[in-house]
Amino acid sequence: MTVTIGERRVEAAAGQTVLEALLRAGVWMPNSCNQGTCGTCKLQVVAGAVDHGDSPLDTLTPDERAAGLALACQARPCGDTEVALRGDVAGRTTHPLRDLVATVVAVEDVARDTRRILLGLDEPLAFSAGQYVELVVPGSGARRAYSLANTADEDKVLELHVRRVPGGVASDRWLFGSVAVGERVRATGPLGDFHVPATEEDDGEPMVLIGGGTGLAPLVGIVRTALERHPGREVLLFHGVRGRADLYDVGRLEELAGAHRGFRFVPVLSEEQGTPHRTGFPTDAFLDDVPSARGWSGWLCGPPPMVEAGVRAFKRRRMAPRLIHREKFTPADDQES
Ligand code: FES
Repeated sequence: MTVTIGERRVEAAAGQTVLEALLRAGVWMPNSCNQGTCGTCKLQVVAGAVDHGDSPLDTLTPDERAAGLALACQARPCGDTEVALRGDVAGRTTHPLRDLVATVVAVEDVARDTRRILLGLDEPLAFSAGQYVELVVPGSGARRAYSLANTADEDKVLELHVRRVPGGVASDRWLFGSVAVGERVRATGPLGDFHVPATEEDDGEPMVLIGGGTGLAPLVGIVRTALERHPGREVLLFHGVRGRADLYDVGRLEELAGAHRGFRFVPVLSEEQGTPHRTGFPTDAFLDDVPSARGWSGWLCGPPPMVEAGVRAFKRRRMAPRLIHREKFTPADDQES
């Protein structure tokens, strides 16, 4: 069966979602959580029909279903189907979604309950800095999303920052438990729209990035890419954590700041006083440091309350909404499966 969007028609294998069929064919679709929770991939079914699968009612209401809307990441075509997006965005190309096989090459404890895991890929992966992959958890078949911390030219390695979630089937039992160097890992990627713009769309505007905990991961890849393109660019990166024990990659980022006069890295501790670091919340540190963010782009990755506070802070400093990019951590790893 086929899925048509604008001028593009792609084959959909049995069981594939509309999103998966399009991304695997290299056709861009807005997407973020791939779990039916964010609504980013909502589209209009123009012809044919889809099975809405597990689409949650609070993301896709009964009225929306009746009006022919669907969540591309949950809906499976029931035959030849035509879909459309709102806005003039259909048909752009993207890095094709692929099944990946990799080998664990390094497991490093970098901070309290935080690990860096490096996976060596059998085949290079085309992606944009800031995107994520889904790992298949051995023995359970569950999938968990992890942002990539590397840049697109490091295409034979996946750098993941993992926070332990007590009881989590992926982080606690596997990536903080049984995982071993040499283990073979299955994954799918790249996914997500939280990424640095294409080179030709990047005009070198000033950037501010705020990450909470391992929300730092995609920001590292984005910052390094942005500075490689425009070495003198003004870039401000805030990393919010609870205490010093949660900080990581400080030396790496300070080294980057030493090589780029326009780049500043600011760790911010929310639950610790009497340290040389800033204290409080990273969004407040941004408000203190930046009187106007007009013309800047903003990047937020972390727990939903931090991301929402960041959006409010960016708007208070007059950042254009279209230049605000956000990635909320989803609570999938809290689930048992
Ligand atoms: Fe489909 Fe989030 S609801 S990507």
